[in-house]
Formats: sequence, C-alpha cells, structure tokens
Amino acid sequence: TTIRVDARPGAGRPISRDLFGAFFEDINYAADGGLYAELVQNRSFEYTAEDAPGWHSLTGWDAVELGGGRGELRTETADPLHPANPHYAVVEVTNPGEGVGLLNRGFDGIPVEAGASYDLSLFARRPEGEPTSLVVRLTGFCGTYAEVRLDGLKDTWTHHEAVLTATATDPEARLLVLATAPGTVHLDLISLFPQHTFRGRHNGLRADLAQTIADLEPKFLRFPGGCVAHGLGLGNVYRWKDTVGPLETRRQQPNLWGYHQSAGLGYFEYFQFCEDIGAKPLPVVAAGVCCQNTPGGQQGVPMGEMPAYVQDVLDLVEYANGPADSPWGAQRSAAGHPEPFGLEYLGVGNEDEITPAFRERFEMIRTALADRHPDISIIGTAGPDPAGADFREGWEFARKLDLAVVDEHAYLSPRWFLQNTTRYDTYDRGGPRVYLGEWASKGDTLLNALAEATYMNALERNGDIVALASYAPLLARSGHTQWTVDLVHFDNNDVRLTPSYHVQRMHSTHHGDEYLPHTVTGAPATTPPPDPLRGGGVRLSTVDTRAEYRGLQVTSGGSDYVLEVQARKTGGEEGFVVGFGAVDTPDHYIWSLGGWHNQSLTLQRVCDGIAEDVDRVPGPIETGRWYDI
Ligand code: AHR
Repeated sequence: TTIRVDARPGAGRPISRDLFGAFFEDINYAADGGLYAELVQNRSFEYTAEDAPGWHSLTGWDAVELGGGRGELRTETADPLHPANPHYAVVEVTNPGEGVGLLNRGFDGIPVEAGASYDLSLFARRPEGEPTSLVVRLTGFCGTYAEVRLDGLKDTWTHHEAVLTATATDPEARLLVLATAPGTVHLDLISLFPQHTFRGRHNGLRADLAQTIADLEPKFLRFPGGCVAHGLGLGNVYRWKDTVGPLETRRQQPNLWGYHQSAGLGYFEYFQFCEDIGAKPLPVVAAGVCCQNTPGGQQGVPMGEMPAYVQDVLDLVEYANGPADSPWGAQRSAAGHPEPFGLEYLGVGNEDEITPAFRERFEMIRTALADRHPDISIIGTAGPDPAGADFREGWEFARKLDLAVVDEHAYLSPRWFLQNTTRYDTYDRGGPRVYLGEWASKGDTLLNALAEATYMNALERNGDIVALASYAPLLARSGHTQWTVDLVHFDNNDVRLTPSYHVQRMHSTHHGDEYLPHTVTGAPATTPPPDPLRGGGVRLSTVDTRAEYRGLQVTSGGSDYVLEVQARKTGGEEGFVVGFGAVDTPDHYIWSLGGWHNQSLTLQRVCDGIAEDVDRVPGPIETGRWYDI
C-alpha cells in the first residue's frame, strides 16, 4: 500500500482546536447519585410523586426508634428554611429511649472507607426548647463506624457542621440522625460529602468519575443536557438561576428521566468543573420553548414573559464572563470565583421541533445575544433525525440567521456510521459549522467502537466544517439507566469504561491540527459491513428507481418515529429489500423491533425532496418476519 500525502503549505485544512469534547446530562443518575458527590439521597425532603410514581418527601428516609424510643417522623412546610426548599423533617420524640430519629441509605448505600473523613452538615431548629442536641452516626449492619454530637440547637434554623471519620469500610453504610431527649426537632438539608472530592472542591464532585471525564481531555463540556435543558413542560425548563447560590435557596425539580434534580450540581459547579479539567464550557439553554414530547406538545414561554427569559440568557453570559463588580459577576465572585469563566459557546435549544413558536423565541434570544455579546458563538439546533423535517428546517433556519454553529444529533447503527464517513465532505463550507452534539452507534459490541473510531477519523478529516463533537450520553449508574448505549458505567464503588470510551479518549488526546490531503493506492479490498437484514424486513414488489426509500415510519402511541432504512437491490424475486432495525446484531435487531411491537409501519418514498407514503403494514409487527409491500 502506498499513501501519498500532500504536505505543501496551504494544501491542508485546519482542524477545529475544540473538535472533541464531552456531553454531560443528568440522565441515568449522572448527577445526583453520580458525579455530584453528595452521599445522602433526598437530603432536602423535596422528592415528590412528580419525580417518580410513589415518591414523597420522606422517600429515602426511614423512621428510627432505638432501645425503647417512641416518636414520630413526618414532614411539614410551615416557615421553611427557604421558600425554594419548602419541606423539612419533623422528629417528635415522646420517649427518647436510646434515640429517635431518621436514617438514610444514600443511593444504594452510603459507601465509606476506613480512615476516610466525611463532612456532615445539616440545618436544625427546636421549636419547643428541647432537645438541645443531636447525635449523628455512620452505621452499618455490624455497628457504628463514626459518631458525633451536635450541640446548641436553637429555636431558629441554624447550620451545624461536623466531620465523621469512618473506622470501617462498608459499601452500604447508613447515616443516622437521632434526638436523645423528648421534644420536637426540625431538620433540613442533611448532607454528607466525602472530604476527598475532585480537586478537593467544597460541594464537589466524585473524584473517580470526575477523573474519568478529565482523562478524556475534552476540549469542551456540554451541560446540562439534552432534554433536561428544555424540560418536559414550561415549569420543567432548566433555569440556570435556580441552580446557583446557597444550596438551600436552589429550586429543585423533577428530572424528566424519572427521578429528581437537587440542583446541588448547578451552573457554578459545572463552570468550575470545566475550568478544573481545561474544557471550555458549553451550556445549552432552552430556546424559550419546552420539549415537544411534553404531553400536549411544545409550549412557548408566553410572549409577555419572553423579555425576562431573554434577560436570563444575557445574565448567564454576565455570570460567566462579567467583571466581579457587575451584578451577576458579583454572584460568581461571592461563590468563590472572581475571575471570569471565559464562556465562548452557548447552545440555544435542543432537538426542538422547528415551529413558529420556536422560531420567534429563538430569534429574540439570538438578536439580544448578538447585540450584547457578539463574541459568543451561538449554537442552533436541528432535530434528532438526520432524515427528518426538523433536521432540515433547523439547518435552513440556522443558515437564514447566519448562526456560527448548528447542533445535530445521530444515534444510529454502526452500519450507518460506516456508510456515512463521507457525510461532511460535501457540507457547505460557507454556512454554519457543525456541532455533532450527541451521537453514538447503537449496540455495545466492538463493532460499535470500530464504527465510531472510523467516523471520528472522518470528523477529523472534516475538522474545518465540524467544529465540535461529543458522544452521548456520558454516564450511567448501573441499575438506574433510562438510556442505552452509554459511555461509562458506574456504581458506588466502580467505574467501568466501554470500548467506545477508549475510542473517544484516543481521538481526543491525539487529535491533529491540520488535515493533509492524501491518496492511498494498493490497499487490500475491504469486507463490507455485515448484513442488517437478518431474519426480517420489508420486501418491495415495485420500486421507483428514481426515488430514495429512506423513511420507515412507525406510529406508536399517536406519535410518529422514523427508523433507519437501508434500501438496496438484491435481485431475483426479492426486488428491493428495505431492512428495518437500527443495528446490526441479532440481539439489537430484536430489541429494535420489539419496541414497536403491535404497531404499524409506513414506508415513505422520497423523490425530488417530496416524501409520500408508499404503503402501510398494519400491526402487529413481529420480529424476524418478512412483510411485503
Ligand atoms: O442523550 C440522551 C437524549 O437523547 C438527550 O437528552 C436528547 O437530547 C436526545 O434525544
């Protein structure tokens, strides 16, 4: 094989310095119970049934009565610690015995190590004069690992802190808070952090997980999503101002992935983490609309409230970059960071449907940003499906507004990635650049890692037009995932890296700065990727050879989804065959179909940009069967 490289000056193309970064979303318990090092679950008693069915303000807590103790545990909301944090625990002790109180088991247990120290803090109030102290213990099945007494309880909310040093290693320890005298005590924000956090930060991050992300050497870090950024309903939009300042003042809310967001890992912590790992921050704010998957569909912030919403976005830039004596720069400074964080990129919107409501609000945000902060690169959004209307319209809209960058996503089969390595070769170099903001090949075999590596080579080759790329999702807590495939799996004690992680790391830590054109001659023939049509699909009897058969539309629960379709001529009596199923392995093939069980399929034909339905296969759709259209 001979490779000829054209290294003459000017022959090459510059590769984006920020090409490979990381995507962080609070999905799969990536934040609370994940990267955020807090060990107590539901520390503020703010869990509700809106987070998950059956959850309530005492979820995660058990009432405890030791050695003949008698009392009651409940939550109340009158005169709370802060209006943003309305619930608190009430322990009413009628007979103290050896202690009455409450116990927390953390996220699948509180992992403690012998000799390690833990920062305990809580707010307490005693409305009746008694008790005046509390006992806090780290315990396990076999006894007490650490104990401390907190004195000086007052009739107003007071903050108490102590250090607990464990005498044993236990992956499933519990935290016990006890009153040992009769009376009533109110408790809130009961927190336990390992002293060993990433870079020793207060309110910090789990050291091993943060290091795993740091080892990727991401050039940027996207946060807080994903769908979490635009939320399920207007009330669930991620509002950055609710996530900064003292912990007790942060507004918590349901996580649309089916659990809770404590906001302990908020915008200050995200910015600080970016700085700690040398990654440029890439926040994504909602484009004034919530996720279109909200029951009832996409809703826009009422126009009367849009000026305030736009101001929030401008204030975010000031929070990140403003001088320490500006109103929001002062808040950053008060949190311990007088220097600016150096924000360059701001994503507006995530996979949004390109509706009139979206367009109008996006333009308001974009105009204000362009006027006040012209040096910020605004990243627009294209829908989740590269063959879908929102994708095309998102790009058209971005071109019309002359945006710097567009965020496009691709969760597709390894085969798709192998077949689309030339995708960006023909992208318009005169328009917005690409941020491949979420992508992963579906499946968890070595083939996936190889397909991704091949695709990343293509991204690098097109590093002049592809400005940024980040695999998604990043973290997944074992037993608590809502999405597959994920880059890194973890539990309380272990972090498990996937082959895809190593591919990301290899490219990120060794990426070039210039692409030099080259030719390859005499290379051995390559074997085509495996046939994805194993055991089932759709057979077309008549085929219009001018058309592209690219949409296999699945109607499920009233919504339409378009699966990947491979159309190819197989000859003989089969004519053209359209395979459905997004991935190549039999297992995932079954999964892909299983998800649409009992639903109907519609095949679309696209010719000269006009799509029309070819035919519909009524359900139930079964795995491994051929359907004739
Ligand atoms: O990465 C998981 C989800 O995939 C993101 O939240 C969303 O943007 C995409 O659909």
